[in-house]
Amino acid sequence: MNVLVTGGAGYIGSHTVVQLLNQGHSVIIVDNLVNAHPNVLERIERITGKSPMFYDYDLCDERSLDEVFSVHSPDAIIHFAGLKAVGESVEQPLRYYHNNLTSTLTLLRVMQRHSVKNIVFSSSATVYGDPDTLPITEAAPLKATNPYGQTKLMIETMLMDIAKTADWHIISLRYFNPVGAHQSGLIGEDPSGTPNNLLPYVSQVAIGKREKLSVFGNDYNTPDGTGIRDYIHVVDLADAHLAALSHIKDTTTYRAINIGTGKGTSVLELIDSFQAASSKEIPYDILPRRAGDIASCYADVALAKDELGWEAKYSIDEACEDSWRWQSQNPNGYSE
Ligand code: NAD
Ligand code: UD1
Repeated sequence: MNVLVTGGAGYIGSHTVVQLLNQGHSVIIVDNLVNAHPNVLERIERITGKSPMFYDYDLCDERSLDEVFSVHSPDAIIHFAGLKAVGESVEQPLRYYHNNLTSTLTLLRVMQRHSVKNIVFSSSATVYGDPDTLPITEAAPLKATNPYGQTKLMIETMLMDIAKTADWHIISLRYFNPVGAHQSGLIGEDPSGTPNNLLPYVSQVAIGKREKLSVFGNDYNTPDGTGIRDYIHVVDLADAHLAALSHIKDTTTYRAINIGTGKGTSVLELIDSFQAASSKEIPYDILPRRAGDIASCYADVALAKDELGWEAKYSIDEACEDSWRWQSQNPNGYSE
């Protein structure tokens, strides 16, 4: 397939591009590098021996996107591009609504104009808010608690309506907590500034960039009192996109599918696992709960297995080993 990957220079996008190239697909990336480093392209080439086409375009720029479609006639789109920091979305809601919604609307209009109607969209477990029951199935009620989550819900709503019209094949993948890095140590997560998410923070403590971790709450109703999440290895997540692409033509109604491991890991368990992987001590303090956090969140993964024939292969220990390899080989991320 000829696959156009929006946001393909980002964390999840770059890992998916590697898997696509390794499986013999051709890849066109559109990414304005608002949250990615250009060096990722050379790393992708080192891993795969192939180079994807790359356009440094903003997806909101309809004319440029139209040109990409005219030149490359993609068969399918994987749509990763978007802004994703929850706290930032609360501070800059207009920027988030504009970027995430306008880019998606522009993409969908251009797709329609070129009769390219196969798309896999990056949704998030954030659309479940604070779940009533665990594990979370796709039938759980949807609610968003911040502008970032609202954009995911709004985009899913648009896609649901569009999927009712002729010839569209649409799958939204609702990711749980992506972690880890490619086993080569050449690509991984490279957050700018202070990481918001747990694993990048832990890994910066291990490398000595941060003094200690703050554990946000140990009084949750969980076995050790700390928050429980479903951490999914980014290479497993990348493979889920390939599985979605190979089933996209069977998809005649809108499908939203959880992508996780189905297993929960607590903050303290993750620290243990990272300490074992890195042979570094991770000092931490227990702080009060972080506003907006929930106690536990993990996926029911039956639908992904039934519909896509996909399930996670890698454990949290392997994810920590791969994250540590990436962090220790690239202490400054992609910057040299
Ligand atoms: P990322 O920030 O690393 O990648 C997103 C990419 O999109 C970046 O390279 C950025 O430069 C690009 N981009 C943003 N706006 C753009 C625009 N207007 N035009 C062109 N390019 C643009 O994020 P990621 O972690 O790889 O996430 C990918 C997708 O998955 C996002 O939609 C995110 O919301 C979603 N998601 C991520 C997580 C997570 O924890 N990482 C969890 C659930 C869902
Ligand atoms: C965050 C996002 C969510 C997104 C998800 C996956 C928020 C409020 N939510 O959720 O929208 O879908 O990532 O990328 O940002 N923790 C610490 N110390 C830290 C960081 C985190 O103890 O320094 C704890 C948290 O309290 C939580 C767990 O670690 O229990 C995981 O946190 P994080 O990685 O931020 O992910 P989520 O909270 O699941």
